[in-house]
Parts: sequence; structure tokens; C-alpha cells
Amino acid sequence: MKLTSDEKQFLEGKHGEGARLAMAVLVDLGELFEARELIPISQVHIDTTIYMVDAGVEFVEYLAQSGARFSVPTQLNPSAIDLLRPENLKVEGELLSKSRRLEQAYLAMGAIPTWTCAPYQQGLVPTFGEQIAWGESNAIAFANSVIGARTNRYADLMDICAAIIGKVPLFGLHLEENRKAELLLQLEGFSEQMFADDALFPLLGFVYGEVAGDRIAALQGMPKDVTIDNLKNFSAAAASSGAVGLFHLPGITPEAQTLESCFQGNVPEEYIAITPRMIADAEKRLWSVEDNCVNLVALGCPHYSIMQFRQLVSFFRGRKVHPDMTCWVTTSRTVYGWLENSGMLTTLQESGVMVFVDGCPLQYPQQKWHITGILSDSAKFANYCFSQTGLEVAYGAMKDCVETAVSGKICRRAPWQSF
Ligand code: F3S
Repeated sequence: MKLTSDEKQFLEGKHGEGARLAMAVLVDLGELFEARELIPISQVHIDTTIYMVDAGVEFVEYLAQSGARFSVPTQLNPSAIDLLRPENLKVEGELLSKSRRLEQAYLAMGAIPTWTCAPYQQGLVPTFGEQIAWGESNAIAFANSVIGARTNRYADLMDICAAIIGKVPLFGLHLEENRKAELLLQLEGFSEQMFADDALFPLLGFVYGEVAGDRIAALQGMPKDVTIDNLKNFSAAAASSGAVGLFHLPGITPEAQTLESCFQGNVPEEYIAITPRMIADAEKRLWSVEDNCVNLVALGCPHYSIMQFRQLVSFFRGRKVHPDMTCWVTTSRTVYGWLENSGMLTTLQESGVMVFVDGCPLQYPQQKWHITGILSDSAKFANYCFSQTGLEVAYGAMKDCVETAVSGKICRRAPWQSF
């Protein structure tokens, strides 16, 4: 890879050991993908934020202690815990202390403490065509496909290196020619009534990811007035069931206003119809829990937006969470502030809903809560839950999650079962 004299100085250690290491990692990455050069990026979203193993904490601390600092605006994905009120989550011991160490190291390097997996709904939102380096699969898919910014699927640790140097190797989705669709998917047999149901979109995303795998597809038939939250939930589910970094929704994806532009003049390699039957089958596969075993409703994966909270408040309508149930919602500290100021937080708390910030519900200490089974309105959460927590799970609409939380008995929606 061709490096400028300034870039070579990083490799020679002239900007310190942390910056040298970061540049060495980026150069190795670039050579692996046969990149010709490094390009500047305007911002970074770091995904290496959850305490999982000591090596992750030690790597971040090593960089911070060596004097490395972020050279571009850099925001953070969720921590493993609620960093502002960990006691409300019953977090203590190693999970708390290691999460704090990560927090301190990132703040020392100059990170913006966003701690959210929905960074595109607050804070540093990129623009069409902007070159960025984002981690977190749902955010990557959203940034490329809904905003039209350009990022590869940056893995943990690479994102930190990109933030220190402010550059990434030029390859993959940073290049126009690698952003064309290969596969044509068509929604067939969906009615307006089905599209009016928010619970469709996570399932659509889940099926999209399974069908597309690591290929870029153009998906025809999505309503043009699909909401940002439905696109968020589609992105999250798609990037959990497939290696999805970019999808094209003709007329919605900024660079793909027509079907022809999705394929950059090429012919689709393959055509596949996506039908309501496939959605109904996917929903069954995301349901592993016994009906009488759910005692937690987990919402906010990805982090809830203020509009989702408005809907949640309307569904609770002053009713209370059943004494045998727990209801968690996860969001960012920014949205939490809006909730507090609007009075919605008090309303939810009076209903017995627990709102947490900064964290990821897949990482919470479930053993301390004696959880037996979980219902979630996130297909991503339902897809990952058993493998990451060992707990059985089910996917359900937000309304059914609320009815389940209030009644203490699992409530299942009807529409998809009738296909
Ligand atoms: Fe966010 Fe955790 Fe879900 S990071 S997208 S809440 S799995």
C-alpha cells in the first residue's frame, strides 16, 4: 500500500506507540484487502465497548496510556451495563469494574459518551456519500443503506485504530463499484394492512439477511413512507441473520433511486421472491420459549427512539406491569433526557417499566433477575438471545410485549399465523 510521508511517520513511532500500533493494524488490514491507499474519514462509531474479555480492556487501556488520542469525532456503542445507574440493574463485581475501566480509557482518548447502538437517531449523523468508519452491525447497515454514507463492516479493535489515525484503507464499501447490488429480491403478496404493522419490518429484515447472506441485494416493494424506526429494525435484523453491510431499497436508499442504479447497469445474478409465508416461517423460528415461561419483556434493541417511547406509553395507557413480570427498555442517555423532560419517563415508571441507558440487554446480569424466558420486539435480540445468554426467547410485536407484561401471560399476535 502506498503511504504518504506523514503516514510513514506514524509507522516509525513519531506520534507515539499507540498511534504506531494503530497505523500498523490499518496498514495490515489494507494489505490484506489489497487497498492502494488510506483515505480520510470524518467520524468513527466504536463497537468495542462491551466488556467481554480482559484482552479488550487491556488493548484500549494500552492505547490510552501510550498517549493515543482520537483524531476525528468518535462516538461509542453500548456498554455492557447502565453506566449511570448500574445499581438499578444489580450490576456489581468484575462486570462493573471492567466496564468502568473501558469507560475511563475511552473518555481519556476523547470519545463522545453516546453509548448507543442507534447513533443515527442523535448525535453525529453522517451525510450522503460521507466516508466514515462505523462498527456495530445495525448501524453499519443503516448508515450505508438509509443514509448513503460509506463504511465497511469494521470489526472490534479496527474501529479504535481508525479513530486514532482518522483514516482507513480504501477498499470494500468505501468504493462506488463495490456498492452495486448483485441479487434482486421482490416482496410479493404483501397487503397495505401488512405494511401498516410495524412488527413486519424486523421479520422482513431477518428474512432479507438469511436470503442475501453476504451479497448486496436490491429489495423491491418496500413502501416509500416506511418510518426511520422500521428501517432501523429492518437493518438490525438483516445484519444479524446475514453478513449485511449494505442493502438497496429502490427509491429509499439515496444512491439507488431506481432499480437500474442499484445494479449500476448490470443484470441481477438471481431473482428471489419474498412472501408472507417466508415471514410467518421466520417468526416461528424466532420462537423457542414455552408459553408459560416468559417473565421478562425486553425492549430497545437497537436502543429505543423517542417515537418508539411515545408508542409504548400509548400502549400502557396507565396500566401496570404484572407482579410476576419484569419489563426492561434500553435507550441512550440522550433519549432518556428527552423522556425525563417530556414526563413520559414518570408515566412509564408508574407503570412499573424499567428504563436503562447506555447498555445492551443481551449483556445484563440475567441470573440476578431469575429470568426464565424473554419476549422481545426485536428480531435481532430474538436471533442472538439463546446463543449469548442461554435463555429461551420469542419475538413479538411491541403491542403484544406490552399485553404480555401487563397480563403476566404471553400474548401472541394473530396476523402472520393466518398466512
Ligand atoms: Fe444494541 Fe445490544 Fe441490540 S448493542 S442492537 S441492544 S444486541
